[in-house]
Amino acid sequence: MLDDFSNARPDVVAELRMLTTPDLAVIEGDAADGTAVRRLCDEHDVDSIVHFAAHKSVPESFADPLRYYRNNLLSTLNLAEIAVERGIDRFVFSSSAVVYGTSGQLPVTEETPPAPQSPYGSTKLMCERILADAAASSGLRVIILRYFNPVGAHGSGRIGELPVAAGQNLVPAVMRVALGESDRLQVFGDDYDTRDGTAVRDFVHVMDLAEGHLAALEADLGSHQYRVFNLGTGVGTTVLELAAAAESATGRPIPCEIAARRPGDIVESWADCSRAAGELGWRAKRDVAQMLADHWRFVNCRRDVPAH
Ligand SMILES: NC(=O)c1ccc[n+]([C@@H]2O[C@H](COP(=O)([O-])OP(=O)(O)OC[C@H]3O[C@@H](n4cnc5c(N)ncnc54)[C@H](O)[C@@H]3O)[C@@H](O)[C@H]2O)c1
Repeated sequence: MLDDFSNARPDVVAELRMLTTPDLAVIEGDAADGTAVRRLCDEHDVDSIVHFAAHKSVPESFADPLRYYRNNLLSTLNLAEIAVERGIDRFVFSSSAVVYGTSGQLPVTEETPPAPQSPYGSTKLMCERILADAAASSGLRVIILRYFNPVGAHGSGRIGELPVAAGQNLVPAVMRVALGESDRLQVFGDDYDTRDGTAVRDFVHVMDLAEGHLAALEADLGSHQYRVFNLGTGVGTTVLELAAAAESATGRPIPCEIAARRPGDIVESWADCSRAAGELGWRAKRDVAQMLADHWRFVNCRRDVPAH
């Protein structure tokens, strides 16, 4: 595993080793650094790459778009080049529902035309295109996984979302309110044309996503050299519904404060996951209540560290 720890805490490695194997290889390095990645490939038997490394905040990508283009594109370009050069069989890429933007068509299928609304979303679509061209011109098999809204944590409570800096993801913000670290949850916009006026998202448990990656690594792709899959539940939940579900999961009040809409926020989005069901044999199994219960267990197991 390679990580530059720009958004990960080194102490997570011990937890990962506890859950996997004590000799899990963890190398500190930049995925955009050709020397570091080639050395890793020399020292380990690499037959597949799963490329998660990216900057991922929509608001931050508006504030500092060039940092986003640099990190997300150069890491993908470098890994794709090395994958082709080394004859690596399979490349799984973490893409996102943000590539679709606010689509007129719901649920969103893999054929829905992409229309990203933020620099972050553009980086993901550009990376997909780099990988499509790499696949078309080489033996590399590429699987693009477009995650909807990942939530939750490992059932043990040992690993979960633990960014270095306070991020803007919804569930960590909800958990900060439940823990008493924030007074209220800021809800960005309550005047959207949705059932309660707040944005609608397809929340998907991180353990379902993990299983989706295993399915992608093992799937028989038939004649496909490049294939895109949505990973979601197919169920839309509003921000206020999520806050209410978090009150049940945590037993704590989650007062909400309505704030202005944010640029780049998608109004509503949920996935059609029938392609993943048919071709990967994958379906999300866990619901929002379980996502929040597992996230709550995680933040309580990690009370020693700030719940960003
Ligand atoms: N969390 C979401 O809501 C979401 C939704 C859809 C897609 N994704 C995508 O899934 C992937 C993982 O997201 P996450 O939520 O786990 O984010 P994260 O920030 O928790 O994880 C990304 C990891 O990559 C590392 N990293 C970043 N740039 C790197 C580089 N150049 N070289 C080496 N390591 C680097 C960071 O230190 C971090 O550990 C990202 O590609 C993200 O765009 C996330």
